[in-house]
Order: sequence, then structure tokens, then C-alpha cells
Amino acid sequence: MEKFVIRGGKALHGEVEISGAKNAAVAILPATILAKDLFTIENVPDIRDINSMLQILEDMGARISYLTRSTVQIDTRGIDSMPVPYELTKNLRASYYLLGALLGMYNEASVAMPGGCNFGGVRPIDLHLKGFSALGAMISTDGGMIEAKAAKLIGASVYFDKVSVGATINVMLAAVKARGLTIIENAAKEPHIVDLANFLNLMGANIKGAGTDVIKIEGVSELHGCTYSIIPDQIEAGTYMVAAAATKGDLLIKNVIPKHLEPITVKLRECGATVEEFDDSIRVYAEGRLHGCNIKTMPHPGFPTDMQPQFTVLLALCEGISIVTDSVWDNRFRYVDQLTRMGAQIQIEGKAAIVQGSAELKGAPVRADDLRAGAAMIIAGLCARGTTEIEDIIHIDRGYEDVVRKLGAVGAGIARVDFPDPGTVVPKRA
Ligand code: EPZ
Repeated sequence: MEKFVIRGGKALHGEVEISGAKNAAVAILPATILAKDLFTIENVPDIRDINSMLQILEDMGARISYLTRSTVQIDTRGIDSMPVPYELTKNLRASYYLLGALLGMYNEASVAMPGGCNFGGVRPIDLHLKGFSALGAMISTDGGMIEAKAAKLIGASVYFDKVSVGATINVMLAAVKARGLTIIENAAKEPHIVDLANFLNLMGANIKGAGTDVIKIEGVSELHGCTYSIIPDQIEAGTYMVAAAATKGDLLIKNVIPKHLEPITVKLRECGATVEEFDDSIRVYAEGRLHGCNIKTMPHPGFPTDMQPQFTVLLALCEGISIVTDSVWDNRFRYVDQLTRMGAQIQIEGKAAIVQGSAELKGAPVRADDLRAGAAMIIAGLCARGTTEIEDIIHIDRGYEDVVRKLGAVGAGIARVDFPDPGTVVPKRA
């Protein structure tokens, strides 16, 4: 097994390059199923979730070749509609996008209930299924499989009672080749929704309004291959922004879209950090003790829930009391137990964390409960006095490319270290 060992207390200085967006790539890769053709996808992050998705496509009959580390060629001509078993989908939450893509292409899909990141709470998919039903699909969930089937999908109006990134994406995937007009109301507006729409339109789809509350999709009969470059990862960039401010460092974060980072920029400035925006890079630096602020996560363009744990670490080191409310997920504060082990003073009250800022954190053995919780532990370790050891880093590898190399290059004391599985009994005598 592997863990990260971080020797804290070093400010981050220098430049870091952001990789392609995980949450865009997990939608764009299955979208290639919608045409039997050749695709070249650039800026594909080399992370576990994406490599799992590529493996699933390969197992379904696609040919995958790497032109460079981040440019992948996908030949989907060998893919056929097939049940996608649990073995392939269990570690990847976003495998549910195979449902929308297969349904859109073949009018039928059978995919095992997804596994993946759960932050200890329930992650329902009722809105996805409601969207498929509105397009005319019959849905059944039996034996751990979700099956969706239609004679022909017909465009329809789909209203989501709650803003859902996944349901918006899945309905877009299913509707691009449906007959007639689909209107998604109360749609999610995240940058990856717009990126997927741009990709599908380049394939020949007719999607308007992505990035607003109402997305209109006029079904087309044929789609084709294309070359496309995935947007930079908003959350990876935000994580480095917060790490720069929390360590009182100075980072130039390159290959970003500053507009996507605005909610994070605004809050960092409110805490007293300096953020300078350039065309495709952003500089963050901070000196002295920062002051706390309140955070409430919201769907885009609100403050992203995927930055909530990382920002809470910064607030734990700021002066004063901060209140962090997560209005997207019911149960995203599990990581707080780990931060408390490092000396953070945080109390959970319902959907809010009350953070009493303290002057320092102390290194401790901690766990990455999930992907963003793991990112928060890294930032805490970078700021803490002494050594922090983070276990369960498999979660971090799901979403952060080369995190040790990137952080090491800007002055962090971080290493990936092998250690024996504590469950393995080591014989005392021969
Ligand atoms: C996406 O998850 C992201 N994952 C998550 O990022 C992110 O936290 C989330 O959007 C919110 O921004 C991917 O893009 C792969 P939702 P998703 O559907 O699509 C409720 C990360 O760390 N809901 O927008 O699953 C749900 O319970 C990951 O990169 C329903 O009630 O999130 C939640 O309260 C973690 N019924 C809210 O909507 C449904 O059918 C938003 O969820 C679907 C969702």
C-alpha cells in the first residue's frame, strides 16, 4: 500500500501546470460511443478515474491509443451495445454516463449500479432515470443492474426539481439523437456541462443554451468523430490556489480559465490573499495571517462543493470564526474528524461546519476519506508543523495528476511511500 508523507511548514513558490478537467473528461469519453468513428481527445488527465473510463471503453470494443501522455485516440467502430458489468463500474461513480450514451446510441443500455466516491452519504440517481423516462425509455433496476430501453427516444421537456450535474449530462447524452426537441429546465451550468455541449456540437449535435438554466437539444440522426481539447480542471486549479494561500506562498497556476475560478478567487480575496488574473493563468499569494469568511456551496456559478474541504483547511488557519455550509451534499464533512486530529477546531452542526481559526495545525497520521477530503489533508499537511502521513491515497490518485511531482516542484516536502498492508500478518519467527 502507499501513503503520502508530508513535511509541513514550507511555503509553495513557483509555477504549476493544471491538467484537463476530470469531470469534463468522464462525460466526454463515454460520449464518443454516440458515433462509430475516430476521435482525438487532447488534454486528457492521467488519473485513475479517467484511466478506468478508458479501460471500460476498451473492454466494450473501442481501440485506445496514446498519441502523447495527454492526447488519446479513440476508435469506437468496434463498440457494441452490451451490458456493462459491476466489475468494470464499481470504482467509478461516473460510469453512469454509459447509460445515457448507450441509450442515446442504441436505444438500450444496461449498466451496473455505479460505485465510486460516496463521502459516506447516499448519492441518488432518480433524476437521471426521470430524464430517461421523459424521453420514452422504460427503466428497470434489478439485480444491481439499471436497464433502460426504448423503441425510439422522443424529445421531451425535462424539469429537474434539483440542479444535478450528472442528470443534466446524462439527459444530454441520451437526447442528442432522439427524435425532435428536448428541453432541460433547471439544468446544471458547470463548466463541464458547457464543455460536453461543445464536444457534442463538434460531433454534429444541435445543442443550445449550455451554461444557462435551459438547454435545448434538437435531435440529429448522425454524429461523427472529431478532435477536441478538454478544458482545464477548475477544482485542481482551485486546490493549488488554496494551497498557495494557506502556506503563505506565491504560485503562478498555468493552463486555467480564470472565469471558472471566480467563486474561489472572490473568497480568497475576502480572506486577504492576493489573486491576479491573466489570460490563461492565475497568481495567488498571501502574507501574514488571513482572516476567516463564510462559505456556502451552491451549484455553479456558486462556490463549488468540490472545493469545500480544501477551503475549510484554509479557514481553520485564519483568524476568527468561519461558517461553512454545504447546500449541495448532505454529508460532506466526514473529513473534519481527520482535521481535528491535526488540531483544527471545527464543530459540525447539521449542514454547517463552525470553524474556529487557530494559528497552526500539527502533523498527524490521517486518512483520505474521499478525493477532495484527500486534497484537504494534503493542504493541511503542507501547512502543519511536523510530519503528516496520509493513508488511502488511492482516492487522491482518482483526481489529481502527478500531485507529488507538481507540489515537489514548488517546494513542498511530499513523498509517496510504500508501506505494508496493516492487515498482513508478518510471521515473527521462521
Ligand atoms: C458531480 O457529481 C461531480 N462528479 C461531483 O464531484 C460534484 O460534487 C457534484 O457534481 C456537484 O457539483 C462528477 O462530475 C463526476 P449532482 P453528481 O447530481 O453529478 C442530488 C468530485 O469530487 N441528486 O450534481 O453526482 C444529490 O444527492 C465529485 O470530483 C438527487 O437528488 O452530483 C446532490 O445533493 C464528487 N438525485 C445534488 O443533487 C439525482 O438523481 C447534486 O448532485 C442526482 C443528484
